[in-house]
Amino acid sequence: MSAPLLLEGRDLSVVYRRSGGLFGTSSELAALDHVSFTLGAGETLAIVGESGSGKSTLARAVLRLVALTAGQVLLRGEDLAILTEAELRARRRELQMIFQDPFASLDPRMRIAEILAQPLRVFEPALNRAQRRERAAAQLAGVGLDAAMLDRYPHQFSGGQAQRIGIARALIAAPSVLVCDEPVSALDVSIRTQVLELLAEQRAKRGLALLFIAHDLAAVRFLCDRTLVLYRGQIMEQGPTAQLFAAARHPYTRALLDAALIADPLRARRRTARPEAAPARLAEPSRQGCPFVSRCAQQQPRCSVERPALRNVGGLQVACHRADER
Ligand SMILES: Nc1ncnc2c1ncn2[C@@H]1O[C@H](COP(=O)(O)OP(=O)(O)O)[C@@H](O)[C@H]1O
Ligand code: SF4
Ligand SMILES: [Mg+2]
Repeated sequence: MSAPLLLEGRDLSVVYRRSGGLFGTSSELAALDHVSFTLGAGETLAIVGESGSGKSTLARAVLRLVALTAGQVLLRGEDLAILTEAELRARRRELQMIFQDPFASLDPRMRIAEILAQPLRVFEPALNRAQRRERAAAQLAGVGLDAAMLDRYPHQFSGGQAQRIGIARALIAAPSVLVCDEPVSALDVSIRTQVLELLAEQRAKRGLALLFIAHDLAAVRFLCDRTLVLYRGQIMEQGPTAQLFAAARHPYTRALLDAALIADPLRARRRTARPEAAPARLAEPSRQGCPFVSRCAQQQPRCSVERPALRNVGGLQVACHRADER
């Protein structure tokens, strides 16, 4: 990777404890299991995987919205966990997030002007009220909305407009990394492309790095330099997006790509895995074996007992015993 390293996740693990079973039992779920990634300045990394694979947990762990069970998040080489509160607050300026629900970051009781001014109050306290309003107006114009909308409330906007305001809010204090958790999946199909184009435009203009969580593989292909594939909280495969889409080696990645192509049967390849089942209803994966074994059409006896390590195969990193057989 040529860009300087900006954000790094090292061996990130998050275990959720669920209590309140029928007999007061509790269980543990490893939602993220030793996941490592790097993000260079100005780079876009996609995190993909079915619902329940741990994508949002990864985003939240990076932003410290959920506690890590193990691992470190480093921003410009600094471990966020060992910073003081004041230092962490300053770093927060660099890391911002947009959510799937476009209204999630917009307080319904506040006017848009106030919503946009809020990060400036925290990160640029020297600005006065008029200056904050001016910045908010410019920011709104930058995401394609009219400055006259500053005095409206969130409920007066459509989902697409609200997501534009969410993007404006996240970017107003000039972060270097934007974490996007399925930023268009709650929007009407007709406006998804516009919002993705806005993200691409803002990224180019500001040299922003994006951690882009998505269900929509077409959006990933459009926007992302590299792609990381999660399944049950573990990395199955990662590498340059173009290469991964053209020649994925992991049966799970190929199943995801096939599912995305199913609407176009002429282009769909031979299916390599069983159709998607609801993750919650699957049996717990074997601790030692491959997490994908219960759905893999290419499994061999050793797949149930030996967990495949992530290794380099033809320019991709793949966690599959059979990755080099093609
Ligand atoms: N707060 C929580 N408490 C317990 N389990 C959770 C919590 N949040 C998520 N999970 C579980 O962790 C797994 C990963 O969830 P999540 O990170 O939301 O996945 P994704 O974003 O890929 O859909 C799922 O099985 C989900 O049910
Ligand atoms: S390690 Fe075995 S079960 Fe796992 S994806 Fe590869 S072939 Fe399938
Ligand atoms: Mg999610």
